[in-house]
Amino acid sequence: MTKPYDALLSQARGLFAGERDAIANAANLAALLYQGLAELNWAGFYFLKERELVLGPFQGKPACVRIGWGKGVCGAALAEARTLIVPDVHAFTGHIACDAASNSELVVPLFAGGRALGVLDLDSPKRARFDEDDAHGLEALARAWIEASDFRLTSDKS
Ligand code: SME
Repeated sequence: MTKPYDALLSQARGLFAGERDAIANAANLAALLYQGLAELNWAGFYFLKERELVLGPFQGKPACVRIGWGKGVCGAALAEARTLIVPDVHAFTGHIACDAASNSELVVPLFAGGRALGVLDLDSPKRARFDEDDAHGLEALARAWIEASDFRLTSDKS
């Protein structure tokens, strides 16, 4: 399969140009990924708020709103601070099934200046849909989103 990440990265940078709103940029990145990558049934964000992951902008079917710290693939990727590629979600202990069609998943944890922001989550109906090339491409896209955006996503009080 042709890996489309170079094109997606330049399209994402184009979409982010002149805009620093993290939610708006996340919404456009979710849409770009959902339209631009084959065999996805969900692409989107969860943001860390008071030690829970809370649903952010996404494309796909309505999803679980809150994921506890360390729970599911999303919580594990953030708690372990590493991208998780899950070839078969049914074999991942603690996987949270939001859409019964999902069979594989990739989650990139999001950090800015050492602060945990949340995760970028992609689901596929195809088993073993994601590999290391996808992980590197999606990590680069996540970095582009972080660099392009200002963050007041959590329960910042001021
Ligand atoms: N499967 C995820 C939950 C989020 S949905 O896939 C959109 C998990 O186990 O964390």
